[in-house]
Amino acid sequence: MTSSSQAATQVIAVADPAALAQAAAERLMARIAKNSGRVAICLSGGSSPKQLFELLATEAYRSRIPWDRVHWFSGDERFVPADDPLSNIRMARLAFLDRCAPSANVHPISTAAANPLEAARQYESELKSFYGAGELDPARPLFDLVLLGIGPDGHTASLFPGYPAVAETRHWVIDVPKAHVEPFVPRITLTLPALACCREMLFEASGSAKRAILTRVFDGEDLPANRARSQGETIWLLDKAALPENFRA
Ligand code: 6PG
Repeated sequence: MTSSSQAATQVIAVADPAALAQAAAERLMARIAKNSGRVAICLSGGSSPKQLFELLATEAYRSRIPWDRVHWFSGDERFVPADDPLSNIRMARLAFLDRCAPSANVHPISTAAANPLEAARQYESELKSFYGAGELDPARPLFDLVLLGIGPDGHTASLFPGYPAVAETRHWVIDVPKAHVEPFVPRITLTLPALACCREMLFEASGSAKRAILTRVFDGEDLPANRARSQGETIWLLDKAALPENFRA
């Protein structure tokens, strides 16, 4: 494992996807251990976190997580029925949540709402009632850990380059009526200020297909995944195949 860190951003390179899932699971455990009260974890969507989620359901982790005081949220969701294979929360539920977490501790973005905007408003009010205030206070992070992925265009959550949602600073959750990358369905996404209000932001990316976009990110291109930054620690957890050629450890 190699790591390099700039201002509050650290890059950690591991051998392969299995090692990446293991390293992410250990960072999640460390975050939980640092908070003896109610813990809030914001889950990423897409396929990258699947191995991590499945690992959390294994005896090695299931027996270590204090499920009664850990709450699970979504960073973004596709506006599809909850049982649709495209649903991000469906993947997390099948991988570990339904077998391990009390249902009251799982806070999905509801796509039963009339439309994505209504779903966004509902989730924002759920986050605010969980947080106990209508304004984010950097001294009191909303999340202990925010998991994120990165898409081929440099999007993260469902914040796509050039979309108004990237610049949203008032709302915590916003609708994205049209996605320009697969899957081409409307989305609901947390905004950068809500994602930033955390103790740790952990990007997970593995495989050679991520190398091109990560090269652009590490070259400093203005992409949503580069704008996303924790007010605490921001970690890029990559495997060797995803690491940009010009990366200096
Ligand atoms: C989504 C995700 C999205 C994802 C990236 C990477 O709803 O699709 O939130 O931001 O993290 O697109 O996706 P993969 O992990 O599948 O490469």
